[in-house]
Amino acid sequence: MLDESYYRKTDEIIAHYGREAKALIPIMQDVQAEYRYLPGELLAYIAKQIGITETKAYSVATFYENFSFEAKGKYVIKVCDGTACHVRHSTPVLEALWKELGLSKKKHTTDDMMFTVETVSCLGACGLAPTMMVNEQVYPAMTPEKALALIAELRGKG
Ligand code: FES
Repeated sequence: MLDESYYRKTDEIIAHYGREAKALIPIMQDVQAEYRYLPGELLAYIAKQIGITETKAYSVATFYENFSFEAKGKYVIKVCDGTACHVRHSTPVLEALWKELGLSKKKHTTDDMMFTVETVSCLGACGLAPTMMVNEQVYPAMTPEKALALIAELRGKG
């Protein structure tokens, strides 16, 4: 259950874009930017407020890969597993992160909601392989050691 503040914030976002069906995507984008994911309850709420069905809102949200229904950590780490990165040993980087953070292919986010680790198929920086991204920043030429040092640094920042 989400507390009242989520609905108040969503109301503000809806008021900004207007209560109309065409505002769905920008509203969802702003809600996701606020919470780092799109809670299902809010998607249903938005649909009702702008007069579309929940099914329609859900199908639009699932069409765009960028929307996530899963709560994410403060630091979202995307390890590239595209071909260029894979041949330059991205897998040991991913495995080192999983081991350090107690994560796996099935468990993506630490219980303290600090870190989410995902894989992506190309970060568009193949010349810098193997790459990874933490929130909006790209890190080139990763190694397991560099990845673990970065985790230690981020933990220090809190
Ligand atoms: S394959 Fe990793 S950045 Fe392109």
